[in-house]
Amino acid sequence: MRKKIVAGNWKMNCLLEEGQKLTSEIVNMIKDEPIKDVKVILNPPFVHLHGVKKLIAGVDNIALGAQNCSDKEAGAYTGETSAAMLASFGAEYVIIGHSERRSMFNESNELLTEKTKQALSNGLTPIFCCGEPLEIREADTHEDYVKAQLTESLFGFSEEEIKKLVIAYEPIWAIGTGKTASSEQAQDMHAAIRKHLSSKYGEAVAEEISILYGGSCKPSNAKEIFSKADVDGGLIGGASLKSRDFVDIAESF
Ligand code: 13P
Repeated sequence: MRKKIVAGNWKMNCLLEEGQKLTSEIVNMIKDEPIKDVKVILNPPFVHLHGVKKLIAGVDNIALGAQNCSDKEAGAYTGETSAAMLASFGAEYVIIGHSERRSMFNESNELLTEKTKQALSNGLTPIFCCGEPLEIREADTHEDYVKAQLTESLFGFSEEEIKKLVIAYEPIWAIGTGKTASSEQAQDMHAAIRKHLSSKYGEAVAEEISILYGGSCKPSNAKEIFSKADVDGGLIGGASLKSRDFVDIAESF
């Protein structure tokens, strides 16, 4: 059985008290309304990791993740944060290759391989993001585009390594736009991603990998999207900043 996951990507939001309030509200709701069989992951900015970790301590199905990590192990890299540091702060997951990092911080497929290696070698589960821009969707070449992202960054990993990943499909045209992919569009792409993984690693391995959908996911559309066979949960941006909405999404399975 693949893991069902709802992960919140706070992006660069929340001052100290806002982050603490948001986390406490989510923790209290999940204590009151235990969500069975769904892993809830909070991915705050680095400076919140320690505080959020303390607040979620003891709540079974909430885990901590980060939004990025360095491609280097340690050393003179001012401003960077290593995967080993994240692990030492209690993070279990790390988002790698979000489209905002690819486009605004020029993260290449090759760099993302290095970041994924760092995450894996430090015991973190990478939430590896892929997804196409609008012009690629309109040209109807989105499947090839996303497959190439995965091939170039990930297909050097072993079967044992690839099984540890979570994939997040986030069509760029749906991120923060209010324009969600239809559940059919999400399912088609998730099935194509799984088939692509299967072509390299075999069906049994591909069947084990959770594939999350991201892009304007909210309580009103999560149920429909999560009902699709190859959609194993969501990577949530804006709606993860509202405790009620985020927990409602996690309860949408
Ligand atoms: P929104 O849910 O705000 O569209 O963001 C999605 C996303 O980028 C999550 O990583």
